[in-house]
Amino acid sequence: MPSMRPRTDPRRILTRNRMGWASEQLSPLSELAVEFCRSGACGELSPFLDLGAGYGAVSLAALHAGASVIANDLDLGHLEFLRTRVPEAERPRLQLKPGRFPRQLHFEPATLGAVHASNLFHFLTGRQLDEGMRAIARWLRPGGHLFVQAATPYQQPFAAFIPEFERRRAGGQPWPGWIDKVSDYCSHRQRSQMPKSIHLLDDLELRRIAESAGLVVERAWLFQRPDLPATLRLDGRESVGLIARKSE
Ligand SMILES: C[S@@+](CC[C@H](N)C(=O)[O-])C[C@H]1O[C@@H](n2cnc3c(N)ncnc32)[C@H](O)[C@@H]1O
Repeated sequence: MPSMRPRTDPRRILTRNRMGWASEQLSPLSELAVEFCRSGACGELSPFLDLGAGYGAVSLAALHAGASVIANDLDLGHLEFLRTRVPEAERPRLQLKPGRFPRQLHFEPATLGAVHASNLFHFLTGRQLDEGMRAIARWLRPGGHLFVQAATPYQQPFAAFIPEFERRRAGGQPWPGWIDKVSDYCSHRQRSQMPKSIHLLDDLELRRIAESAGLVVERAWLFQRPDLPATLRLDGRESVGLIARKSE
């Protein structure tokens, strides 16, 4: 095991920068993104961008499915570990792109076949989400797809926040899932592995952001990832998935 890789559970690895855990098991949403790659939609001229790739479990699967992959993360160490996991024959199809989404990433308009972001969007502010979604809509080629998964308020450690989320939603407050200080609501014993603030999202929020950026939403839904730790499980709505496309 390389020294840069923290101690692991076979299903998830702690990030190096207090951004939670990276999953080794693909979620249903990520499986759909890989299936999209298998259809041949993400070749050299229209690559697959994996935002906040972590240690790259999904980037790896996309490479195995034949895609050209751009793996992005804030932490270069995560991406360097990903590189060591890629078979020699697939390395020419992988590009590492460290940097903070959205501000530090730049691509030519209409050049990406798909964008995937798993467990990244809940680390972004409302302004970053709006800006990021507009950037993704610009970068996707016509017919290109966006696959997003994020945390919802419907997780056990955030149960105390649900009434506040629903009150804000009913009152029409913008960004109802923003929690400035996680410690005000979160009871998780490993809270120290999370950032100070978090932005819990749901299907209505993701749909609204994607549609205001001009994307066509194919599906937005709540679900429970099969690998979700027991301490996070609440009622089957712990994660939100979004699939959207840029119109032809
Ligand atoms: C919880 S991990 C998820 C990793 C992986 N996508 C998964 O689903 O298992 C979040 C990752 O996003 C990265 N990250 C957080 N904010 C970011 C940003 N603004 N731009 C790029 N990467 C970011 C972190 O470094 C971390 O590796």
